[in-house]
Amino acid sequence: MKVLVATEKPFSGVAVKGIKEVFDAAGYEVVMLEKYTEKSQLLDAVKDVDAMIIRSDKVDAEVLDAAKQLKIVVRAGAGYDNIDLAAATAHNVVAMNTPGQNANSVAELVFGLLVFGVRNFFNGTSGTELKGKKLGILAFGNVGRNVARVAKGFGMDIAAYDAYCPAEVIEAAGVTAAKSQEELFETCDIVSLHIPATPETKQSINYDLVGKMKKGGILVNTARKEVIDEAGLIKLMEEREDLKYLTDIKPDADAEFAERFPGRYFATPKKMGAQTAEANVNAGIAAANQIVGFLRDGITKFKVN
Ligand code: 3PG
Repeated sequence: MKVLVATEKPFSGVAVKGIKEVFDAAGYEVVMLEKYTEKSQLLDAVKDVDAMIIRSDKVDAEVLDAAKQLKIVVRAGAGYDNIDLAAATAHNVVAMNTPGQNANSVAELVFGLLVFGVRNFFNGTSGTELKGKKLGILAFGNVGRNVARVAKGFGMDIAAYDAYCPAEVIEAAGVTAAKSQEELFETCDIVSLHIPATPETKQSINYDLVGKMKKGGILVNTARKEVIDEAGLIKLMEEREDLKYLTDIKPDADAEFAERFPGRYFATPKKMGAQTAEANVNAGIAAANQIVGFLRDGITKFKVN
């Protein structure tokens, strides 16, 4: 069996070593395609592989057409909106993710962004503390739950809303369950997004919703750029000079945000949420084990198509 690790944004060395060890033990061959710049490089690399590990790398119908031997693709991470699931199914390719494996890493970055934000981007002026502020967590999945855990350490008041998670589960974690997305935005000082990019969530974080935030509100996005209505947020931030937007995923209108809202807008140069050795090891090795489990034993746990 031949496995391709296609990561435009490479894993840490220790994770690559661990991934190779899993495949060595199974007697599989591993090929690496890191930091590629052209889609043609990916199309070429997939030609003769049985399995592949990816991160945010796009696996669309063209890639699947080129991958004649492919049986499984595992997204080492949570969000699998970068895989064309219908095309994967049509090509008889199993798609999986590795839920939870990089959740702590993303959650810690939320607080990196927040401390940076409330201390005025470290410009030397007097900022505020997180203690006692109300944090709203939108979606109480693996990342949201880790955010709640860390927020307790900061002494924050925590609320969450998740359309798919019962209020009792949220309350059992010591978090106030908001009745709606609108209530979460209305009642919190800070809202942290942890929703996937789906047809329902795309552009759902819009002018009306964010406009419900209290004075001095902060929106932090470590989820997906697609969930933001960028034009609506720009309009709102023009009208509301008190709002800040901190994001780990550069919006399409990054230059416009940066130019119009200095000191109120920050985007990481490259998505950093899952960029820790620990997250890379957890997600990368889980992906490798899932590939061996599927090809050798037919295990389809974490299949998403
Ligand atoms: C995820 O969905 O797991 C995160 O967005 C991480 O994405 P990355 O592997 O491209 O850093």
